[in-house]
Amino acid sequence: MTMRAAILTASDRGSRGERDDQSGPALATWLAEHGASVVAQAMLADEQPEIEALLRRWCDEEVADLVLTTGGTGVSPRDVTPDATAMVLDRVIPGFAEAMRAASLRKTPRAVLSRAVCGVRGRTLVLNLPGSPAAAVENLAAIWEAVPHAVSKIQGDSEDCAPSAKK
Ligand code: MTE
Repeated sequence: MTMRAAILTASDRGSRGERDDQSGPALATWLAEHGASVVAQAMLADEQPEIEALLRRWCDEEVADLVLTTGGTGVSPRDVTPDATAMVLDRVIPGFAEAMRAASLRKTPRAVLSRAVCGVRGRTLVLNLPGSPAAAVENLAAIWEAVPHAVSKIQGDSEDCAPSAKK
């Protein structure tokens, strides 16, 4: 089954029309090239209640199997995406964010600044990604191999896990 993905861009300047959304479209292109269908895209200001409300709606209405956020994961005062995400998740999956930061650290020491949180709400996997288009795609690519298996397990696949593929 084709994975359905929704993308939320968190950006004050983007939401005021002062900057084009580049990371949302970059992620949409990457997802399309990797066999997922993008079913929803939105841009919001860096406002925690609004971000929480949209994440809850997309997950609870089962709009998508996978929700990606881009932006607002850093340490600036207005960066609230991980805080909003943590409030709505039923369960955190620390390994996704650990793997993204580990892979990104090979590219830049600044990767430690991403506070990204990943996990499950209902039947939906939610992944925080950084805000620059290149960083967003690099972080997603770092964990992509595990995403379809995660989604099928979240949605109730009770098969034994196959032995891990050799790289
Ligand atoms: N990860 C990768 N792969 N490449 C990058 O350039 N930039 C980092 C980090 N992760 C970066 C990265 C920087 S500089 C910041 S501040 C954090 O992501 C948070 O980014 P955000 O606030 O745009 O979400």
